[in-house]
Amino acid sequence: MLVLSIGSEIYPLVKTGGLADVMGALPGALAAEGITMRSLVPGYPAVLDAVATARPAAVTALAIDDLFGGPARVLAASPGGLPLFVLDAPHLFARPGNPYLASNGVDWPDNAQRFAALCRAGAMIARGAIGDFVPDVVHAHDWQAGLVPAYLHYDGAGAPPSVMTVHNLAYQGQFPAGLLDTLGLPAAAYAIEGVEYYGSIGFLKAGLQFADAITTVSPHYAAEIATPDGGMGLDGLIRARAAVMHGILNGLDTDTWNPATDPALAARFDIDTLAARSANKAALQARMGLDARPGTMLCGVVSRLAGQKGIDLILQTLPLLQTLDAQLAVLGSGDGAIEAGLRAGMARWPGRVAVVIGFEEPLSHLIQGGADVILVPSRFEPCGLTQLAAQHYGAIPVVSRVGGLVDTVIDANPVAVSAGVASGVQFAPVTADGLADGLRRAAALFASPPVWRAMQINAMTLDVSWAQPAKQYATLYRGLIARHGGSVTR
Ligand code: ADP
Ligand code: GLC
Repeated sequence: MLVLSIGSEIYPLVKTGGLADVMGALPGALAAEGITMRSLVPGYPAVLDAVATARPAAVTALAIDDLFGGPARVLAASPGGLPLFVLDAPHLFARPGNPYLASNGVDWPDNAQRFAALCRAGAMIARGAIGDFVPDVVHAHDWQAGLVPAYLHYDGAGAPPSVMTVHNLAYQGQFPAGLLDTLGLPAAAYAIEGVEYYGSIGFLKAGLQFADAITTVSPHYAAEIATPDGGMGLDGLIRARAAVMHGILNGLDTDTWNPATDPALAARFDIDTLAARSANKAALQARMGLDARPGTMLCGVVSRLAGQKGIDLILQTLPLLQTLDAQLAVLGSGDGAIEAGLRAGMARWPGRVAVVIGFEEPLSHLIQGGADVILVPSRFEPCGLTQLAAQHYGAIPVVSRVGGLVDTVIDANPVAVSAGVASGVQFAPVTADGLADGLRRAAALFASPPVWRAMQINAMTLDVSWAQPAKQYATLYRGLIARHGGSVTR
């Protein structure tokens, strides 16, 4: 089976969040199911750099004379073993830095054309434009790929079935209605049963409308987004499409995230050598300028600093962390006010609160391998990957009771503790008081080393790999192909 995956980020080449991790891990995970996945991604400078040195050398698989205002080509290459189609369209993607934002922090004014181009190229490949890769299924990720199912629909019969995965309903890709013609959509598409969304064109809406199947990245989030509270304006459409909606949890790439081999750790460890974590804790304290205190509860955070993530709630609990004699180490970047609040906390409690503003892959691993607790107080969380990494690395997640956090963390309620299955702490409601309650519970558990150690072992024993999710995607693809009247020959 050949599957074309389409999205705007892919680890390790370009990443702002978990979408990249999932795009990067899926091809390897699905290979174990006998599925050949190739990922179409934009030719950002970092991607083209990697492709330039790929062996065997990249080939031009498709040339397009004019793609939204300039020539483009699709390169096929597998840098670092990652099978890619790269949309090389310099007029759209030869821009350094963040994939979505200009250096002034504002969205590129032509983001509609940039990601419509990705979708248009994807739709062309879907319909057989690259002879030796005619996909059986097309899998589009998030709003940037949302027009793929729409283009396949409006271009008429003969397209393979499509899957639309929602990684985050908060980012919907809405653009002025006047762009309809520019984007190559027929006038009829501007309708409620088309791409129209509250007076504009909605890329994610289009994908949800026309995909043959919809997935989101946890069962709990699938239920939440079908409600007015969680649906961010799209719940009506999501309810209407309930029959094709699936919640499939993300996995963790356990090659990249393996505490027994992780080069970013000061000391590697596994379930039998948990004591070695203390060297990572010491290294983390030293790296972040925290007091060298082996016995204190060290709370880590690795996060985009966006409203979704509830980091402002952590700011409100900084005094409580002092009362609990805990430390805080935060790695993140994003919202200026949250960054400023964290810096103020560091100035107020030096040695106890530490912040690194930035995006640092190795430090994110050291936090997972050295912190006792990982805080994830999200207001909503489609799946979340940092609590998966935490558990795999023997750090106990303290998470809000929302979305994929509910599905992936086993709360240390008295029953779970006595049954020996607890792997973390869930708190509710998602308020500063709720988080405070979660922190107090974590501190009480931390005060009992045997209980804590048992939780660490439970957490490390959970299967957070891609093995099960990959099987679910494979089943979904096979069902779509069968319903489409097709059979898989490769
Ligand atoms: P989201 O996709 O909403 O940002 P996830 O938890 O699914 O949340 O994925 C976040 C990914 O990005 C994880 O791999 C996490 O380790 C990583 N990450 C987030 N912020 C940083 C940062 N500042 N430095 C390094 N890695 C980060
Ligand atoms: C999104 C979500 C996150 C999820 C990730 C990968 O960015 O916010 O919860 O884990 O996508 O699916």
